[in-house]
Amino acid sequence: MGAEVAQTWTKSSWRSKPRVQMPDYPDQAALAAVEAQLGKYPPLVFAGEARRLKAALGKAARGEAFLLQGGDCAESFAEFSADSIRDTFKVMLQMAMVLTYGAKVPVVKVGRMAGQFAKPRSAPTEVINGVELPSYRGDIINELAFTPEARIPDPAKMLQAYTQAAASLNLLRAFSTGGFADIERVHSWTLGFTDHDDAERYRDMANHIQDSLDFMRAAGISPQTTHELHSVDFYTSHEALLLEYEEALCRIDSTTGKPIAGSGHMIWIGDRTRQPEGAHVEFCAGVQNPIGLKCGPTTTEDDLKILMDKLNPENEAGRLTLIARFGAGKVGDHLPRLVRTVQSHGANVVWSCDPMHGNTIKSASGFKTRPFDSVLREVHEFFAIHRAEGTIPGGVHFEMTGKDVTECTGGVRAVTDEDLSSRYHTACDPRLNASQSLELAFLVAEELSSTRRDAATAAAG
Ligand code: PEP
Ligand code: CO
Repeated sequence: MGAEVAQTWTKSSWRSKPRVQMPDYPDQAALAAVEAQLGKYPPLVFAGEARRLKAALGKAARGEAFLLQGGDCAESFAEFSADSIRDTFKVMLQMAMVLTYGAKVPVVKVGRMAGQFAKPRSAPTEVINGVELPSYRGDIINELAFTPEARIPDPAKMLQAYTQAAASLNLLRAFSTGGFADIERVHSWTLGFTDHDDAERYRDMANHIQDSLDFMRAAGISPQTTHELHSVDFYTSHEALLLEYEEALCRIDSTTGKPIAGSGHMIWIGDRTRQPEGAHVEFCAGVQNPIGLKCGPTTTEDDLKILMDKLNPENEAGRLTLIARFGAGKVGDHLPRLVRTVQSHGANVVWSCDPMHGNTIKSASGFKTRPFDSVLREVHEFFAIHRAEGTIPGGVHFEMTGKDVTECTGGVRAVTDEDLSSRYHTACDPRLNASQSLELAFLVAEELSSTRRDAATAAAG
């Protein structure tokens, strides 16, 4: 199987496969011009970085690290600003700190950022007041406004997406290594509006961390010279949906001579585009990056086996992350059968939990929302099943923002159905706000600690 993929794969071989969820560009000449231009631009990420992420995810597969992947459902051109990148980054740092401190495990930080622009949709068209138009597919493809012109796929948007991704990455690299992520600043990552129980809990934890640093200094150990305490590794990821964009940014890694997606460190295949013989699986099979694969209620055991063989023919640890997204109350119907398929196949994977996409509902007030209780419940079910199966929960994947939005109901600050309209800013799916994200991080840290305690007891017994 591996040899077959290696022989026939090229960065354009996806073009001969059935494709779904991709636009038909009316102006093919304009499309070709954009592809040629993007093809000459520098890659956004470098192969060595993607290899480093793969090694870190290899640790998550073995339970020696934990993946924290989060960010917008869809990045937007209109909401792009340094402040919103900074605030999302802050929340990710806080969550990572809660996990590192609470579960004593290194956290692999991956943003849904700097490339998360293209969206799969449940229907190709949308009807409002009897008017039917093509669906909005993300800012890299068309526009949200409900007019016929806005919904025409425009290839020039790929250039704008590239520019925004490059500027976002530039800022993220600066935040990661330029002092902002220094552990001595653990208190400063709190956002002004997160004033509640979990913020208090976070402050307590930050005080303990500060104490430990003071203790180290007093004991003559110098935190100043320890690189790991002053900077973080922060990676980017997105759904590899728009394959013209992915192909145009595909490069050859000069170290290994192998193809690499230059659009982001990690790319994933969505629940609607994971057909084993389809275009998206074909493209992802041939690039060396870490790959995510969404697994939903319709993922069959047979498909999963074929997909694992295609996407990870060498069975490399860290190459493949299976992102489970079943919905609260349904995890028990599906995760055990897929976990057992992975085990009997002897496959190396990171199991990650996406508690968002199986829990989307329409609220009484008409907004698309996700009850925070369902999100927490799915996380709990995910961990419980891994404990029962004796397998490793390796990460979480969720949609969040550092902005004080009201898109998901519930949480300690209790967003209600009626509140949804007050600060509902998402261009696509509802995201957790900063306080809900922190609350989730504390829950994950508790689940992870008890999993690790159980494992240690089992090993000792
Ligand atoms: C997403 O991650 O935004 C998404 C569309 O997820 P899924 O493919 O799991 O539905
Ligand atoms: Co989404």
